[in-house]
Amino acid sequence: MMIIDGPARLSGELSVQGAKNSTLPLLAGALLCKGQTVLHNCPDLSDVDTAIEILRHLGCVCRREGHDLIVDSSITCHEIPEELMRRMRSSIVFLGAILSRCKEARLCPPGGCELGPRPIDLHISSLRRLGVQVKECGGWLECSCPGGINGAYVSLSFPSVGATEHLILAAVCGKGTTIIANAAREPEICDLSEYLNRCGGRIYGAGESCIIIDGVEELYGCEHRVMPDRIAAVTYMAAAAVTGGNVTLRDVDNTHILPMLSPFEESGCQVRQLGGSLNISAPRQLSAVRHIRTMPYPGFPTDAQPVVMSMAAVGEGTSVFVENIFENRYRHTEGLTRMGARIKVEGKVAVVEGVPELSGAAVEAADLRGGAALIVAGLCARGSTRIEGTEFVKRGYEDIGEKLALLGARVKVFESC
Ligand code: EPZ
Repeated sequence: MMIIDGPARLSGELSVQGAKNSTLPLLAGALLCKGQTVLHNCPDLSDVDTAIEILRHLGCVCRREGHDLIVDSSITCHEIPEELMRRMRSSIVFLGAILSRCKEARLCPPGGCELGPRPIDLHISSLRRLGVQVKECGGWLECSCPGGINGAYVSLSFPSVGATEHLILAAVCGKGTTIIANAAREPEICDLSEYLNRCGGRIYGAGESCIIIDGVEELYGCEHRVMPDRIAAVTYMAAAAVTGGNVTLRDVDNTHILPMLSPFEESGCQVRQLGGSLNISAPRQLSAVRHIRTMPYPGFPTDAQPVVMSMAAVGEGTSVFVENIFENRYRHTEGLTRMGARIKVEGKVAVVEGVPELSGAAVEAADLRGGAALIVAGLCARGSTRIEGTEFVKRGYEDIGEKLALLGARVKVFESC
């Protein structure tokens, strides 16, 4: 639970954490490699803790040294317990890595934020294209590929991030060549490909819609620095924006930020990017962000939609959001409305009429990025905002309360028992 007393103007500088959505597939990749992998800039997040528990359950030795995570890969088990699978969505990508090493695997469908149905049909159909037999019985997936993974041509009906990562992890040590058509282009996929290629993999075209993977015999662990978290970066940018603040972010990859710049500039913020840093200075009164349409990368990312909506809630004028990726990603509008925001949701569309000021209220996070949106709103709301459900936020933001306090926010974090 978190209590924020607003409004507060944020200023100062902050180093952005390593990317959650890169760390998780990288850890699945470490499972594929013989020997030791060292991940630098590994964020301290509950989802990463879950991934470490999965690796340890499978037989790996993992230890943290600050933001370094050392993984000695050995695999003695091909099953992931339901309790671990249910904790997050990305647990599914371990399936391809386990199959590659053990030729069999048993696990149940993954959990993750409730953003609408989150099927894994693309994951399963992709594995079947690679010669994996997948049986769904009693809520469990029984998978086997006695002859190993066979390279194949796989065309994804949607550029799914997870399915693309899963295919890379399954095929990198497969027999023959795998071609992924309509692959997701997110930067996290490039990070995974860069790591696996440094371990001896032959992956070409990551970041483009067509990825070619020439299977290799073996991979050997190496050192890799996790890319900066572009969604954490945009979250702190939104926090600066709503508070009329001036904040400098260190350790950002400015290329990744480009698809998210337009709402900040439209709302009147000045963003200066230089090397691995970014400075944002915001006006006292934001303007509307006008039109946000979430799309696969390099479009505007769905993960940034909730925190940008908190900006729109206090932006002068009308902002229109179209959420094209997930069916139910407006759950934060309930809390924002309790704080005085004027939002109308009709299916994929949310229309936000900016108000001069939000008021503190008791609200509850329903998912990770929605929780972040409520925190951003609490920073500029007048009075005290009490946010329940911040365990969702801990899944993706390292010490967000402490970091905001260092920038001048009045935040109290209460560890959930
Ligand atoms: C990844 O989720 C991220 N999670 C999400 O971030 C992110 O929002 C999403 O990509 C889109 O960028 C991680 O990397 C751990 P998808 P993923 O497969 O892989 C449908 C966060 O807050 N779909 O690209 O699950 C799916 O239902 C999280 O950090 C199928 O229909 O996203 C959704 O509508 C939230 N069948 C759309 O595709 C499938 O088999 C996008 O899903 C797979 C996906």
